[in-house]
Amino acid sequence: MTVNVDDFKQALQLWASGVTVVTTRSEKFGTQGMTVTAFSSVSVEPPQILVCINDRADTGEGIHESQCFAVNVLAADQQEVSNQFAGGSSQQQRFENTAWQPGVTGAPILSDSLMSLECTVVDKVRAGTHWIIIGAVQHCVCRSGEPILYYRGAYRQLALA
Ligand SMILES: Cc1cc2nc3c(=O)[nH]c(=O)nc-3n(C[C@H](O)[C@H](O)[C@H](O)COP(=O)(O)O)c2cc1C
Repeated sequence: MTVNVDDFKQALQLWASGVTVVTTRSEKFGTQGMTVTAFSSVSVEPPQILVCINDRADTGEGIHESQCFAVNVLAADQQEVSNQFAGGSSQQQRFENTAWQPGVTGAPILSDSLMSLECTVVDKVRAGTHWIIIGAVQHCVCRSGEPILYYRGAYRQLALA
């Protein structure tokens, strides 16, 4: 017995999340990045996180090649960055229009993001249409600001109580 796909999608829309841009750099594919909300912490000691990447995503292929990636958590004013990295622009345009610098693994760190985690791949698991990619966190950078949120198919801002 499996849930109806539309019911499943509708249910998942009620899950509020932050928004990240996952980046990588490889000799074969150059700099790549894509918008990802499927991000979670996994373990504190050792520090590990995961991202879920569609097997058709170019950036996923780049991560398999480079074996490293960065997770950049977007700030409240980075809706346009999210849209560009979700397919609104070519890979070249995405990085031309966004301030970045290479991190310790070589993966691009977005300068204006709220937080960046630089990771090496420790494992990947195939699950349906996606790869669950588990990363060992090598370095992290925190900046000040508020996050952008994604809920019911739209970007949102934190409401301070
Ligand atoms: C808000 C938002 C969240 C997304 N989250 C994911 C995600 O968690 N995993 C994924 O594979 N694609 C996700 N996508 C879709 C990818 O960002 C998009 O397909 C991207 O262009 C694929 O990257 P590529 O250009 O490297 O092929 C998301 C898109 C948006 C707008």
